[in-house]
Amino acid sequence: MKKRLVVLSGAGVSAESGIKTFRDSGGLWEEYDIMEVATPQAWNRNMDLVLEFYNQRRKQLMEVQPNAAHFALAELEKYFDVHIITQNVDDLHERAGSTKVMHLHGELKKVRSTADPDLVYKLNGWELKKGDTCELGSQLRPHIVWFGEEVPMIPAAAELTKTADIFLIVGTSLNVYPAASLVGYVKRGTPIYLIDPGHLAVSHIPNLTFIKEKASVGMERLKEILLKLADKNQ
Ligand code: OAD
Repeated sequence: MKKRLVVLSGAGVSAESGIKTFRDSGGLWEEYDIMEVATPQAWNRNMDLVLEFYNQRRKQLMEVQPNAAHFALAELEKYFDVHIITQNVDDLHERAGSTKVMHLHGELKKVRSTADPDLVYKLNGWELKKGDTCELGSQLRPHIVWFGEEVPMIPAAAELTKTADIFLIVGTSLNVYPAASLVGYVKRGTPIYLIDPGHLAVSHIPNLTFIKEKASVGMERLKEILLKLADKNQ
C-alpha cells in the first residue's frame, strides 16, 4: 500500500508561476490593506473595492500556469497517496494534475450566495459584478474565507493531517491560523519536511527536515529523498 503524504501548501508554491505571495517584501499585503479587501467589514463598507481586488486576482490566474513544484507534487501520486491541503485560492495544484486538493481558504474561481453559504457556483470568466445574484436573488460574493470568518474545512484538514505517514509544508509563512496549527495534529514520530527559502521560526516542529529552497528546487530534492523511501518500502 502507498504511504500517505499530506501536504500543507501556501502562496510560496505558486510564486514561481508569477502569483505574488502575501507577506514577502513586495507581497500583496504591502500593496493592499487586508482590512480593506479581505474582511466581511470591507465587503459591507466597500463592495466595489473587494470585487475589484478578487476580479484582478482571478484575471491574473487565467494568465499563469502551474510551475515545476505543482507538477512534482502531482507526479508524487505515482508513489504516494498524496493529499494536498492548500491555503491557496488558485487552482494550480489541480491544473498540474493533483487529484486530492482541499482548499482551506476558498477558491477564486467559485462564488457563493450571500444569503445561503451552501449555494456555491463556478464563475464563468473572471469578473464578478455588483448585481450578479444567486438563484434566491441575493448578491454573489467571492468564495473566499475572509479574516474574521470561520474556516469550515479545518476539522476535515485536522483529521487528514492525523493520518499522514509523511507531512510536507511548502511555501507558507505559517503566520495565519488556524491553518498554521495543523502541524500540531501530525502523529508523533512522523517525518515532517519543510520547503521554503525564507527564515521561518520552526524550532517547535519535531522531526523536521528544513529544505531552505524555493519550491521548484526544494521539490526536486524532496522527490529524490521520498523516492528512495518508496523504493525501500517495496
Ligand atoms: P505568505 O505570503 O504569508 O508566505 C509565503 C511564504 O512563501 C513565505 O514563507 C516565503 O518565504 C515563501 N516563498 C516565497 N517565494 C517562494 C518560492 N519561490 N518557493 C517557496 N516558497 C516561497 O503566504 P501564506 O503563508 O500562504 O489568506 O499566507 C497564508 C494566508 O494569508 C493566505 O492563504 C491568505 C493570506 O492572507 C487569505 O487570503 C484568507
